[in-house]
Amino acid sequence: MHEEHRAAAGVPDERVALRRRIAELEALEARHQEAEAKLARLASFPEQNPNAVIETDAAGRVTYLNPVAQAQFPELWREGFAHPILRGVEAILAGFQSGERAYVAREIESGNAIYEEKICYTREDDVVRLRVYVHDITRRKLAEAAIQKLAKRVVFAQEAERHRISRELHDEAGQALTALKLSLELLMADLPSDTDVLRQNLHEAVALTDTTRERIRSLARGLRPPALDTLGLNLTLEAFCRDFARRTQLAVQYEGAEVEGLSDAMTIALYRVLQEALTNVVRHAQATGVEVRLVHDARTVQLIVADNGRGFDGSMESAVPGGELAGIGLQGIQERLELFGGRLEVASSPGRGTRLLVHLPLEERA
Ligand SMILES: Nc1ncnc2c1ncn2[C@@H]1O[C@H](COP(=O)(O)OP(=O)(O)OP(=O)(O)O)[C@@H](O)[C@H]1O
Ligand SMILES: [Mg+2]
Repeated sequence: MHEEHRAAAGVPDERVALRRRIAELEALEARHQEAEAKLARLASFPEQNPNAVIETDAAGRVTYLNPVAQAQFPELWREGFAHPILRGVEAILAGFQSGERAYVAREIESGNAIYEEKICYTREDDVVRLRVYVHDITRRKLAEAAIQKLAKRVVFAQEAERHRISRELHDEAGQALTALKLSLELLMADLPSDTDVLRQNLHEAVALTDTTRERIRSLARGLRPPALDTLGLNLTLEAFCRDFARRTQLAVQYEGAEVEGLSDAMTIALYRVLQEALTNVVRHAQATGVEVRLVHDARTVQLIVADNGRGFDGSMESAVPGGELAGIGLQGIQERLELFGGRLEVASSPGRGTRLLVHLPLEERA
């Protein structure tokens, strides 16, 4: 009875333990199946990849092409590393083998197409495999180029329009005001002597005509500095700095040299950059002085605008597109420069002033 009792009591215990074990095994099996499914998925991934996937060995022999690669580049089987889309891969492989890195991303042109390639390297038991993922980005590149071209045209059109308005203002409004002033002066000369109040009013009208004409002239100059055409960039920037210093009481020091080989559009771009940079100094920097440099070598032009003002927290990121400080001034500068393959660097920290550095390649990109 004693024995029986123990046995009877042991049965459920055993069952529980067995069930637990079974459950554990089932869970293990499920995990195993899951892992296997994952492996199968991973292994079949290149097969279903919408981009071309190519595998080669270290000698450049193609060992695998996924269906897309087979359809797109059937010659790869024969040509291996000699195929245009694997141009330069041998050198990349050498870099991989010397342990420099195990992954390279690049863009490559072949025929009329542009490809983005991701090249990975694996080595297991002395077996080297290169896997190259090739993504055709021709359409994206064309779209980007079209957008750039359009943006350029917008800027050109805007500058042309400014040029036209500037001329109109100068020629039409300027001449009309000059004529108006002459008429007023003639009227004044003809006035009988006992009309003091009238004379005084006319005096004021003449003075107003003068200031209006002066304002229109300076507006016209701002729209399109005529000096750019006659004096060139260096002297125009220098004159602009001098003028700016006079108007704002800011000590502007300019140093520069004439740059050969700048297109008209690039010249205007640099002029606009300086306009915005100096305006920013007056608006935000509380600076007493600012240094402007125009330097160049055979390949690039640099414009540097450095003030001794209060600066601002953060780097370029906070002040340029998307950043927390971003106005449209610095953003506009950057976009303008990008049209010509140039770029803007901003260095600023609280209390230590702000320095804008503009790079513009002299070889204008098409
Ligand atoms: N020289 C400077 N000194 C101090 N802060 C500056 C200077 N230049 C720019 N900043 C800071 O960077 C911000 C962005 O400048 P940005 O020129 O893009 O815009 P904004 O001048 O505020 O407006 P706008 O769009 O009219 O140019 C400014 O608001 C200011 O906080
Ligand atoms: Mg600004």
